[in-house]
Amino acid sequence: MDKGIVKLAPSILSADFAHLGKQVGEAEQGGADRIHVDVMDGHFVPNISMGAPIVESLRRVTRLPLEIHLMISDPDLFLDAFTEAGSDAFLVHWEGNHHLHRTVQRVRALGKRVSVVINPATPAAVLEEILHDVDQVVVMTVNPGFGHQPFIHTTVPKIRRVRQMIDKIRPGCDLEVDGGIDPTTAPLVVDAGANVLVAGSAIFSEGEGVIAAMKRLRAAANQAMT
Ligand code: DX5
Ligand code: ZN
Repeated sequence: MDKGIVKLAPSILSADFAHLGKQVGEAEQGGADRIHVDVMDGHFVPNISMGAPIVESLRRVTRLPLEIHLMISDPDLFLDAFTEAGSDAFLVHWEGNHHLHRTVQRVRALGKRVSVVINPATPAAVLEEILHDVDQVVVMTVNPGFGHQPFIHTTVPKIRRVRQMIDKIRPGCDLEVDGGIDPTTAPLVVDAGANVLVAGSAIFSEGEGVIAAMKRLRAAANQAMT
């Protein structure tokens, strides 16, 4: 693996929604590479969150790429609305999608970046055929649905396996991890081969503020690179 720079993708799920524009501005100042938007429908996961209007508002206040993590039962139904709102990338789950290849091709046809996401209990092997068609793989390091959950350590060997697959089959594909990433767990996932870290509570729920929290997270992630 090219141990280049680790990218940070702050998840606004843990942001203060009364001050969302300000917090995203701080994340941008803190060197965020993209903003991670968690979309939940209360069906695919046991929680609801936000929809396309939030993306439309964010589009007006940041130039950062907006990646949309679709934790919804029928992602195909919402791709157009999120695209019109100004999304740059879609993260779609392997679980529950009988026509994943079609969904991936639809995202491509919209001219957007596409990622396939796998849950903690889903083996890396399911990626083998779809890997050729994606820009990024996302390994969930918690069960999707909520912020502030503890990191699931058994996902670390899987991250390593996915890194090996990427290096062999599709070098250049990003490997993102999502859930429970903080200064303690960041070195573990970077060492295993992740190069994009999603973090919600470790960035937006720290008393020290967004910029300081990002600096601390980046420093911890970089430890694993040396
Ligand atoms: C969980 C979401 C995550 C969440 C991460 O379902 O996909 O993106 O915001 O939050 P933390 O970083 O607090 O685990
Ligand atoms: Zn997410």
